[in-house]
Amino acid sequence: MSDPTKVSDSGQTRERAPHIAYEPGVLRIVDQTKLPGELDVLSLTSAGEVASAIREMRVRGAPAIGIAGAYGLAIAALQSARKADSPDHFLGMLADAAQTLEAARPTAVNLAWAVHGLLNEAKRHVNDGVPPEAVAVQLQKEAKTLHADDIAACRRIGDAGAPLLPRGANVLTHCNTGDFATGGYGTALGVIRSAWRAGALRRVYVDETRPALQGARLTTYELDGDRIPYTLITDGMAGHFMRRGDIGAVIVGADRIAANGDTANKIGTYALAVLAREHDIPFYVAAPRSTFDPDAQTGDDIPIEERSAGEVRAVQGVPIAPADAPVANPAFDVTPARYITAFITDAGVLAPPFDAAIAALGKAGAAAPATAKT
Ligand code: MRU
Repeated sequence: MSDPTKVSDSGQTRERAPHIAYEPGVLRIVDQTKLPGELDVLSLTSAGEVASAIREMRVRGAPAIGIAGAYGLAIAALQSARKADSPDHFLGMLADAAQTLEAARPTAVNLAWAVHGLLNEAKRHVNDGVPPEAVAVQLQKEAKTLHADDIAACRRIGDAGAPLLPRGANVLTHCNTGDFATGGYGTALGVIRSAWRAGALRRVYVDETRPALQGARLTTYELDGDRIPYTLITDGMAGHFMRRGDIGAVIVGADRIAANGDTANKIGTYALAVLAREHDIPFYVAAPRSTFDPDAQTGDDIPIEERSAGEVRAVQGVPIAPADAPVANPAFDVTPARYITAFITDAGVLAPPFDAAIAALGKAGAAAPATAKT
């Protein structure tokens, strides 16, 4: 992994080294909890270690945890193929590893989709009589393909979304949806990157995104790297800037999109959508097809992860509240579909009515989670 902080020769953009790199048996990730202060690369050598890194948000963002989960299962396949005394034993060990990985974080459907997609491939190969060692080799390739596909999907999202943003406008974004949250390039941040390159964007307003500060720590880091002008604000300031007419569009990512378009994303997204409606500002959700979950009919079917009280009682480890202050810490909220202007996907832009458009998206060949879950 080269140094992601290196500035390119042109001085225009910081080189984007992959924050996820894999060689058979070892997953290397940039520890996102340490950024921007420290660039620490972790080497993970078991599905359990990958699951812990996902749970602790060392790797985070819906597509990125799907990719990490796929590599975690690929590692488990190599190790299980060596230990198993029969193909059934091999599949049993893989299923256990899949369960450990999937349980790491419940809201982003990309994780279950990726892990079960690979597990189903393993089952298919074993049923075809392929020996476990060869299945394990095949899973290394499948995980790499999933990673490459996500980067390609992000580029398509960027291309599809850039023309939607009002020319010369400021856009507001929440959390981190860029390189660090995906295989590379980003979803909402990919659209922002593409719009900037097209000369269509003035400035990005970046919500700090309490409590884990993905906006303040990661989105600013990426925008700095691309020399895209931004203003960092605290989450509570968004309404102020909208009322003043400073924001031309809001664009966010997603962790799971239900069949009716209700969308789970980082806590605080719902409030932004309501504010945007009040101020007549378009509200866009950018996500690959792997984030759509046809098994969730509405947002009520989406599990919302509750994280530790410590994340709210402290900022970056520094206490800001009584040590025993009662706390709620839902990591995500659900934005009802009626607040969403359009979805920007790797298969194009979806306009309302969303239920029909989302159903057609599945038929257009998305590797839908439902097909991956067995
Ligand atoms: O808790 P996180 O940091 O994993 O939450 C990330 C988000 O909510 C992102 O907006 C979402 O995963 C989309 S990332 C392309």
